[in-house]
Order: sequence, then C-alpha cells, then structure tokens
Amino acid sequence: MKGIKIRGTGRSVPVKTVTNQDMAAIVDTSDEWISSRTGIQRRRHCGEGENLTSLSVQAARQALESAGVRPEEIGACIVATLSADTLVPSAACLVQRELGLPEDIPCFDLAAACTGFLFALHTMECLLNASPRKYGLVIGAEYLSRLINWEDRGTCILFGDGAGAAVVECREDWGTVPAVMGCHGDDKLLRVPGPGTSEPCLISMEGTQVFKFAVEAVPWCIRQVLETSGKTVEDVDFFVFHQANARIIDLAVRKYRIPQEKYYKNIQDYGNTSAASIPLVLSELQEQKKVGSGSRVLLVGFGGGLTWGGTLIEFA
Ligand code: COA
Repeated sequence: MKGIKIRGTGRSVPVKTVTNQDMAAIVDTSDEWISSRTGIQRRRHCGEGENLTSLSVQAARQALESAGVRPEEIGACIVATLSADTLVPSAACLVQRELGLPEDIPCFDLAAACTGFLFALHTMECLLNASPRKYGLVIGAEYLSRLINWEDRGTCILFGDGAGAAVVECREDWGTVPAVMGCHGDDKLLRVPGPGTSEPCLISMEGTQVFKFAVEAVPWCIRQVLETSGKTVEDVDFFVFHQANARIIDLAVRKYRIPQEKYYKNIQDYGNTSAASIPLVLSELQEQKKVGSGSRVLLVGFGGGLTWGGTLIEFA
C-alpha cells in the first residue's frame, strides 16, 4: 500500500459576514450567550451569486495552485458535503467540469456530515493506490445556511458556509496514513431530512446530547490515532479539530496537555461549517506557515450520523 501526504491547501468563504448581533435581531439570543457557549462570534453565509459549487471550485483552484499541480494530473475528486447544490449531478462532477479535471477518474460526493473530510481523505488514499495518477483532490464544502431552521435558536446560531480543499499526493515510499473511523447509526440527535420524508429539509439537533458525545469522541480519536501510529502528543506538530464548539476543543486540549501553539481555532470567524471546517483550518495554518513541508498533523472530526474519525497525516 502506498501512502498520501498533503501537497497544498485552499479555501473559499462567502463574502457576507453574519455577526452574533445580527443573529440577535432574528431570534431571542445575545452575543454574550453565543460567544460564551460556543466561541462563535460571526459566520459567513452565502449571498447572491455564491453557492456550494462556486465555493468548492475556488477552494480547489487555490489548493491546486498551492500544490503546484495541474488539473489534468488529478486522479480522483471527492467533495465531502451534506449540502450540495444538486443531488445529481454531484458537486464533485460540477467541480470536475469547472476545473477541467480528467474524464477517466472517479468524482463523487461523500456524506458523513462533519467527519466527511476525514472519511474522504482515507477514501482518497484507497483510490490513489489503484490509480495511475498520483494526485487527488479532496474538498470539504457546506452551504448550511440554506438548511437552517430560523425559528430554532439552539441551532440557527451555530452554522456557517465555506469550503476548504487539499491536494494530496500518493507515493510508494510513504507509508499508509493511520486512520481511525467509526459510526453509530442515530436519527434523533442530529438530523437533516431528505426527499424521502415529509419533514422540511432543515437541521435539528439535540445539542446537549451531541456535546456529550463529542467530548468523549474527540479524546478517544486522539488516543486511538496515537496508539495506532505509535506516536505521542510530542511527536505531533499540530492538532486540527472539527470546529463545532470551542468548549469541546478546550476540554480535549486540557486532557492531553496540548500546548496552545499546537492547536488552532477559527470557529470565532466561521461557526460550524461541518465538512468544511477541518480543511478551512488546514488552509489557514498553511497560509500562516504554522504548518509546512514535513509537518505532522493530527486531525479529529465528529458529527451527525453519528460519525467520528481521526488521522495523522503529513505535509509533503
Ligand atoms: N440563545 C440564548 N439561549 C439559548 C440559545 C441561544 N441561541 N439556544 C438555547 N438557549 C437556551 C435554551 O433554551 C435553554 O434554556 P432553558 O434552560 O431556559 O431551557 C438554555 O439556553 C440551555 O440550552 P442547552 O441546549 O442545554 O445549551 P447548551 O449549553 O447545551 O449549549 C449548544 C447549546 C448547541 C451550544 C451545545 O449543546 C453544543 O455546542 N452542542 C454540540 C454541538 C455540536 O457539536 N454539533 C455539531 C456536531 S458536528
């Protein structure tokens, strides 16, 4: 088995910023409540001329440029999302068309909610092992503002839109990337109904229950990834967590005594962007040169499904 490393990253977020004060004009809430309970101060919501495909394409272009890889070198394209513009064609097929990716490659969407980007990275490694091309395009993108229930103050304040992308490279001389993944089928705690139901297609969540799940899942993923890879916290250059709630991240870093310079939060700016949140962090970290060639990053995701996962991946 060959292994993958991240060659380049990119991101794109909508122009419109929605502050906590803006939210307080819509539902009975306050900046104080939202920022103290979640860490969120603002989020981006799509406006005129923006959609999931356009965000994905922009993020992907940036990732290709940062990787120095041409579209025709891509061997597979996966978009992790729960909010694609159309069920068919997939967002990945639309990205393929816009970027001019090859036609003899698989392009598809992957639905694993906030863990989607992690599942997609692992899937990409498997695909590239069987591909004559060595580069893959993995995108995490969401347009969650169109799934928001504006009458539910417990959820509408949480979610934002955005896209992050990574170009990965697969080589014989790189070992497979350690990955742990899990699912627990549950349609009560976190739910977005689809066309097969009579319910409106809006997000509903039992926040406190999901919070309890997350504070167990995150440390579990860290421990499993470290054990599987035979590494310690000291061996990891950066920890990248799904940005769902700042308090979930704080509890995990305290438990593992992860120093402040080894983790990062951007939830204050984007809210919870589900599958986009991890690649958004990766792209900001790379741009700020907090990670670069040779950096070993431990990624942890969790979310609806329920789903969870962790991986330890390097930058090429
Ligand atoms: N503004 C003001 N008050 C609010 C509010 C808001 N936006 N949303 C809920 N409240 C109220 C509730 O009505 C409740 O009031 P009551 O005590 O009078 O009934 C009170 O605040 C506490 O609500 P609760 O839902 O128990 O709050 P919480 O501390 O659990 O925080 C979340 C809510 C959503 C921030 C938190 O549960 C969370 O982050 N959960 C995990 C989210 C997550 O990770 N989701 C995605 C997985 S990818």
